[in-house]
Amino acid sequence: MNDTEEMLREKIKEICDNYKDSPVGGYISGDGPIPCDILFVGEAPGKTEIEKGKPFVGMAGRTFEKYLNLINLERKMVRITNSCFFRPIKINEGKNGRKTVSNRTPKISEIKLFKDVLNEEIQLVHPKIIITLGNTPLKIFTEFSSIGECHGNIYFNEQLKKYIFPMYHPSALTYNRNSNFESNYKNDWLKLKDALKNL
Ligand code: URA
Repeated sequence: MNDTEEMLREKIKEICDNYKDSPVGGYISGDGPIPCDILFVGEAPGKTEIEKGKPFVGMAGRTFEKYLNLINLERKMVRITNSCFFRPIKINEGKNGRKTVSNRTPKISEIKLFKDVLNEEIQLVHPKIIITLGNTPLKIFTEFSSIGECHGNIYFNEQLKKYIFPMYHPSALTYNRNSNFESNYKNDWLKLKDALKNL
């Protein structure tokens, strides 16, 4: 890890160490080159990401990489980060008193905790385009409230002076196992490939 990555990681660590409002299950920082033309922003890490210390290395990550490769990109060519750097968890207690842990969507207040460090990462990465994965990062970078209204199109964020390309979160494919959704999802990646050519 170089000094820039170390600095970002330290800031993330401090935020996570000081956060006591809700249970969290570890944290990670972004992955990939700095600077980099292409930045993907996801929601928050899950169990596998915390174990491996990198974003998008679990089930959603496999889907993500498959489509990334489809448009002739490799993981090492892009920067991948998240809206929330810790794993938001829910602790469920069963009837027998046994506790299980599951993921939950990060709260708006939790996303806000990372606003400055995410902005700092964006300044350092200096991407030409930010691809938002799912509704959580969509709300950070655009005025849209639902990915259904805007996926697969390119927008310009005047404040950041960056192109924004909203996509469904790769885990949406796991929940929408029908060929219609799958072909729409694939089509968004092909549209991204075209958009990248014109940057
Ligand atoms: N889902 C996300 O949004 N981010 C990750 O890092 C992993 C899964």
